[in-house]
Amino acid sequence: MIRFLLNNEPVSLDSTCADITVLQWLRETKLKTGTKEGCGSGDCGACTVVLASVAKTDDGFRLHYESVNSCISFVGALHAKQLITVEDLAEHEKLHPVQQAMVDEGGSQCGFCTPGFIMSMFALYHQDNLPELVKHPKELHHWIDRGLGGNLCRCTGYVPIKRAAEQALSNHQPDSFDQASEKTIRTLQLLQEQLPMHPRFLSPMNLTELADMRLTYPDARLLAGGTDLALEVTQQLKDIDHIIYVKQVPELLDVSADATTLRFGAAVSLNRCMHTLCEVIPGSESMMLRFGSEQVRNQGTIGGNIVNASPIGDLPPLLLALDATLVLQSGEQTRSININDFYLGYKQTAMQPDEFLRAIHVPVPDANAQVFVYKISKRLDDDISAVCGVFCLDIDENRVLTKVRVAFGGMAATPARAHNVEQALQGLPFVEDTVEAAIDALHNDFSPIDDARASAAYRQTVAANLIKRCFYQIGAKDTALQVGEYVSG
Ligand SMILES: Cc1cc2nc3c(=O)[nH]c(=O)nc-3n(C[C@H](O)[C@H](O)[C@H](O)COP(=O)(O)OP(=O)(O)OC[C@H]3O[C@@H](n4cnc5c(N)ncnc54)[C@H](O)[C@@H]3O)c2cc1C
Ligand code: FES
Ligand code: FES
Repeated sequence: MIRFLLNNEPVSLDSTCADITVLQWLRETKLKTGTKEGCGSGDCGACTVVLASVAKTDDGFRLHYESVNSCISFVGALHAKQLITVEDLAEHEKLHPVQQAMVDEGGSQCGFCTPGFIMSMFALYHQDNLPELVKHPKELHHWIDRGLGGNLCRCTGYVPIKRAAEQALSNHQPDSFDQASEKTIRTLQLLQEQLPMHPRFLSPMNLTELADMRLTYPDARLLAGGTDLALEVTQQLKDIDHIIYVKQVPELLDVSADATTLRFGAAVSLNRCMHTLCEVIPGSESMMLRFGSEQVRNQGTIGGNIVNASPIGDLPPLLLALDATLVLQSGEQTRSININDFYLGYKQTAMQPDEFLRAIHVPVPDANAQVFVYKISKRLDDDISAVCGVFCLDIDENRVLTKVRVAFGGMAATPARAHNVEQALQGLPFVEDTVEAAIDALHNDFSPIDDARASAAYRQTVAANLIKRCFYQIGAKDTALQVGEYVSG
């Protein structure tokens, strides 16, 4: 059985319906049509719901709230969570503060996007760091932009919506969900012990169970956040006979860091991964903040992004340039493989059918290394890269490049290192002549393809310009220019 709370109502569902989407279940089975369907592919946020789950703290437990796109979430992933929908925010006919603020600020016209915005605002209302955020208006605005970046509105315009979010968050008072939190935590903890088991949707509770199920069902598809896999079901109408859901396996959710290595379990969400990654590698923040949307970063995982092997995945170029190691497991056996040896061809990897990705180990860059990550896409928020370029450079006091690693996404059938560019830079002073030589070398590394996202010529030009941009950005560090500003002519 899949057991969860729908708002405050306990729900038990037969495991056979674990692979239908939460949106379909809400609208067609529960007739809760407040949650809207727009794109059906995670891009518009109209279907946003909030999931609350129990998180451990130093002195007990608390509820952790996350917005997700219900159109690309499977019902099986709701187990032991509280699913909160727009119908149940108001209490005794009194609107929730985020709803009231939307009315006060005129944040809704046709209203189709409004339930999704309300739910993203509700998740912001329950951010763990909200008390700190409201003391710093600039930070608060940044979080509002981040929290609403996955919701599209085509008629009201974002200014009143953002004003509504600001009003609600700045005047935060505990709501009925806060008041009921202890009871909710107790209920969810009881549900946690009884996991759904059905060959169509298996939910292992630990690494041993996961390894056994992988051996028993080598044809099963592993499901983490589902932000790639669910599209195969909802867009390509594929039937998946067996799913093994990995996000309940505690060993796959570990994050740890020491002076030399960051270690991520494969099922760590992109948002949690971002938190640790950006502390150690600040250059990665500009890309991670533009990875999908808040909903996609809450759902999607680092492991899913690597194994999906998309040529335009955003984390692989960074992990290639950082020389990350992947830990694969089959049965009780584990093996480590450098990510540079993992991608074999378009959507092909070195992972065997009975293996799964267990962890990712990322070496901490040397103290004098500088990491630059550039994501180029048509839209700022919630868009996949046309090209992603990553430069990991050690430069000595004479501006000589002592260690160079460069990787690109969007330039070949797989994300890949630019070995010729690296050779053209290695051991030389980072001056304009070296940059020109590196740009020439780029043509020997890649022959990108034309597709709907970008033409081959555009990709080649952009990649060359990213080499220049990195050069100017490093130059800017030695001048009065701020990082992010660069000489444009
Ligand atoms: C609206 C939208 C925006 C997006 N934006 C971006 C973006 O900006 N940048 C980007 O790179 N991607 C983007 N994506 C793609 C996707 O979100 C990422 O690739 C994400 O990291 C996938 O993680 P997941 O956990 O959801 O993977 P899932 O969909 O759960 O799985 C993806 C694949 O990996 C396999 N898998 C998952 N975990 C394991 C494991 N532990 N071992 C072995 N196999 C495993 C699955 O079987 C499946 O084949 C976007 C997707 C959507 C829907
Ligand atoms: S319907 Fe558009 S994100 Fe779900
Ligand atoms: S109010 Fe119409 S799409 Fe936002």
